[in-house]
Amino acid sequence: MGPPGAGKGTQAGPVKKAYKMAHISTGDILRENVRSCTELGAAAKRYMDAGSLVPDSLIIEMMESRLNEEDASEGFMLDGFPRTVAQATALDELLEKMGSRIDAAILIEVDDDVVIRRLTSRRVCSACGAIYNAIAHKTKVDGVCDNCSGPVIQRDDDAESVIRHRLSVYHDETAPLMDYYEKAGKLRRVDGLGPVDGVLSCLVSMKN
Ligand code: AP5
Repeated sequence: MGPPGAGKGTQAGPVKKAYKMAHISTGDILRENVRSCTELGAAAKRYMDAGSLVPDSLIIEMMESRLNEEDASEGFMLDGFPRTVAQATALDELLEKMGSRIDAAILIEVDDDVVIRRLTSRRVCSACGAIYNAIAHKTKVDGVCDNCSGPVIQRDDDAESVIRHRLSVYHDETAPLMDYYEKAGKLRRVDGLGPVDGVLSCLVSMKN
């Protein structure tokens, strides 16, 4: 968990490699559905473009199907889900039915001004999803992904006005989840302001 631009996607890459667990990002799944012009993608696109949350019913149905896929059976890391108390409750019910549970809810904490700076300069590979930054983490060749040579672009929802709306949605609708997981004794906080490697070390030490 964490505000937009906290570094959830950035940290998920190395954590997934280190622990060999499925990385399930609702944002990535939705963007893939938009790209492939599915019914879900068509329904989700206008919410995503505006920086608003996609309705809970669509997200919960999508995650029920994703969590039942083979690669999630050995453990998984959720990125960008749950984002509302209704999603968190539905997740608990679903996992109970599956005989599973959430071990920890990790919150990466970053101030709003840092979020704006990071996201207005974020660039992503539209082919493999690799995350870059036009200031702090550039590609070797301008506009070309270091990993797969795919095109590196700016996300539509990384316009400053949309980022500000995403932040207010985060504070209004997602931040209340901190209480939900604190009461369940599962909330772990990580300072997301340090360098990428420093944040990763904190995450890894938490798991050990
Ligand atoms: P989603 O894709 O989940 O977007 P988000 O939560 O807003 O998160 P971001 O991907 O913007 O940020 P991040 O924390 O992953 O940061 P990153 O690592 O890229 O969701 C998109 C949309 O889909 C939502 O708005 C909504 O419409 C919909 N949606 C998704 N899930 C939903 C749900 N559950 N319910 C309803 N709707 C849903 O890093 C950002 C930048 O910072 C990069 O440039 C990176 O290089 C840089 N950076 C990262 N860490 C550091 C560091 N430590 N120091 C310096 N720079 C850093």
